[in-house]
Amino acid sequence: MTGLLVDNIGELVTNEAGRGEAGPLGIRRRAALLVEHGEVAWVGPAADAPAAERRIDAHGAAVLPGFVDSHAHLVFAGDRAAEFAARMAGQPYTGGGIRTTVGATRAASDGELRATVRRLRAEALRQGTTTIEIKSGYGLTVADEARSLRIAAEVTGETTFLGAHVVPPEYANRPDEYVGLVCGPMLAAARPYARWIDVFCERSAFDADHARAILTCGQAVGLDVRVHANQLGHGPGVRLGVELGAASVDHCTHLTDADVDALASTRFDCTCHEGGHTRTVATLLPGAEFSTRSPYPDARRLLDAGVTVALATDCNPGSSYTSSMPFCIALAVREMRMTPAEAVWAATAGGARALRRDDVGVLRPGARADLVILDAPSHLHLAYRPGVPLIRQVLHNGVPR
Ligand code: NIG
Ligand code: FE
Repeated sequence: MTGLLVDNIGELVTNEAGRGEAGPLGIRRRAALLVEHGEVAWVGPAADAPAAERRIDAHGAAVLPGFVDSHAHLVFAGDRAAEFAARMAGQPYTGGGIRTTVGATRAASDGELRATVRRLRAEALRQGTTTIEIKSGYGLTVADEARSLRIAAEVTGETTFLGAHVVPPEYANRPDEYVGLVCGPMLAAARPYARWIDVFCERSAFDADHARAILTCGQAVGLDVRVHANQLGHGPGVRLGVELGAASVDHCTHLTDADVDALASTRFDCTCHEGGHTRTVATLLPGAEFSTRSPYPDARRLLDAGVTVALATDCNPGSSYTSSMPFCIALAVREMRMTPAEAVWAATAGGARALRRDDVGVLRPGARADLVILDAPSHLHLAYRPGVPLIRQVLHNGVPR
């Protein structure tokens, strides 16, 4: 007898299309799940559960895949609570505060940055996040971007080089030179620690030509593309992401019909999801709209156009200082016209799509044994009981945390 049996599950969300109840979540009732060697080994009716070395009794609770947070900026120093307070008193968000965090991050020791990354990673895990993407972007020198990614890579394989977050003050009047630095020595120093490349494509950051130049340099050395797009206003970011085959365009707060059509045009058929997926996912970050008091993105419009949608936290000290995927699910349901099932799917399988992963965000034999046991009988409670700590237990790589 080997393995760990999670038994007596009232509602098991598998995200397996065509399994269990109709709908995207592939729900099974009165189920059990066997974990072996960090992977899901078996899923089935509790009545047929195999014997196992160890057992966790879920007592009829809901079990979900662990959350996949595909967008977070955890490598930074300091906070911007005063900037938040000023916004709540009426100041707009422009992204200008990024430079404040860049100054604090450059001044911090490796140990300080590492402690913050580990604290926030642990905070996210307690709230059910078992896969997390972490970006650089608050260093903006060759050495500070490389060390940000080196520290991020200590806690996740999903690391993203965001040297093109903003043009740092010392290059204020020389953006072309900064783009040269990013494409040259900074990319070379970042490459060993990065899987992805990202650009903040926005009027106050990088235009389409600069963004295209940086992203294609990254692709040339084997990094895959994701883009910060259309957060603060309409712009070219979403269409650029589609043009370059990005895994995800993130924020998508201000979209034209042409942007939505471009995303929908990347649709392909697959057996993994009824109606297929879009090659480029729209990742929505409602924590940012919450914390900048901005209008929320229109998830319904994207979903109705057939675009694959993910939800992520955007955890960072400026625009969204939350590590809580359950909070983002609740916001998406209440403010973005997503159904609870759509939001839970987007926070698990959707995040996995945005990271081009098929071993997480789903509970089927062979997948990572990353799961959460809720203190609730149904996934509905994640939106129905906002702000309540509903994560009873997390299994990460099959290990109870
Ligand atoms: O995704 N938009 C750019 N980057 C972050 C904000 C960073 C900050 O304000 O420090 C974001 O919202
Ligand atoms: Fe971001």
